[in-house]
Amino acid sequence: MSQALQRIDELRAEAEAAVRAALDTTALEALRVRFLGRKAELPNLLRGVAQLEPAERGRVGKAANEARQALERLITDRGAELEAQELQERLSADRVDVTLPGAPVRPVGRHHLLTRTRREIEDIFAGLGFRVVEGPEVETVFYNFDALNHDATHPARSRSDTFYVAGRDAVVLRTHTSPMQTRSMELGPPPIQIVIPGRVYRRDSDATHSPQFHQVEGLAVDVDITLADLKGTLLAFARAMFGEDRQVRLRPHFFPFTEPSVEVDVSCFLCGGTGLLADGGRCTLCKGSAWIEILGAGMVDPNVFEHVREHGYDPERVQGYAFGMGIDRIAMLKHGVPDLRLLFDNDLRFLEQFG
Ligand code: DAH
Repeated sequence: MSQALQRIDELRAEAEAAVRAALDTTALEALRVRFLGRKAELPNLLRGVAQLEPAERGRVGKAANEARQALERLITDRGAELEAQELQERLSADRVDVTLPGAPVRPVGRHHLLTRTRREIEDIFAGLGFRVVEGPEVETVFYNFDALNHDATHPARSRSDTFYVAGRDAVVLRTHTSPMQTRSMELGPPPIQIVIPGRVYRRDSDATHSPQFHQVEGLAVDVDITLADLKGTLLAFARAMFGEDRQVRLRPHFFPFTEPSVEVDVSCFLCGGTGLLADGGRCTLCKGSAWIEILGAGMVDPNVFEHVREHGYDPERVQGYAFGMGIDRIAMLKHGVPDLRLLFDNDLRFLEQFG
């Protein structure tokens, strides 16, 4: 056998052994360069075939070509094998057990008592067919007072009661959520049935008053809405919020934007509306009165409708009721919170008791 043929056999055997023994794709690539690359011996031999004796050319060329093709196939096959193996290794190395708890287990946050109470109130009214809407906290005197039938001398308009925006006579931090009654009616004709939760502001600060607090307003307008609808709605709310045995009672009151106006009491859920605790003593929650005031309400005053008459609220044709409650007060009553300021101090020892 010619020297060239022998060398081809050797190279082929050497290369095949090395390829079979390659442990990863990087090593395999190095072998490909070494045996088949531009400077490798086998391709060189092929290129040099023309210089050989004519008698040898055919055999050597054929052998070298076969060796190269066999080696290419082998490298391709081995490459696929190694790639599969490496993928398998990566997959098992990267496997994460998502069912394992984090280490250490992270404390999970909770909703603030006020957020939870607001959502509870929203849920109850949503279940009764009310939509939840929100409005601006910086409000005009028009929406906060004028459109709600407050006369020019109403004490809440004074700068000692209400925060006015610096340098502006007609812009305030809203003192209640009621301005959203008018704003919402301006957006479309009745029927409308909405609750409006949000922050409100007054110049007031003690154990039961905070300069910033929270209300939920309610408004329902349609033809043929009566005070009985208001009472039934509030009874359903009181029972969902404070227990199935609750009763409500309406007491005459005055608000500029409702006529008639009422204050609404719920029968005390601590003493069961008896005014007495089990030990015979006076109930500490209702102070023995058997009733707890929870909100103000009434039938929308025709003067309020006058401001939105052009939007479909002719006071001769439509009626409605409105109500407004303090979220902070409801939360305090329901959970026996003795001081409003606890809600805003951000003391975890207090907050973690809820939710
Ligand atoms: N806006 C009143 C307040 O802040 C609460 C209120 C009373 C709202 C009667 C109403 C209502 O919608 O009808 O004291």
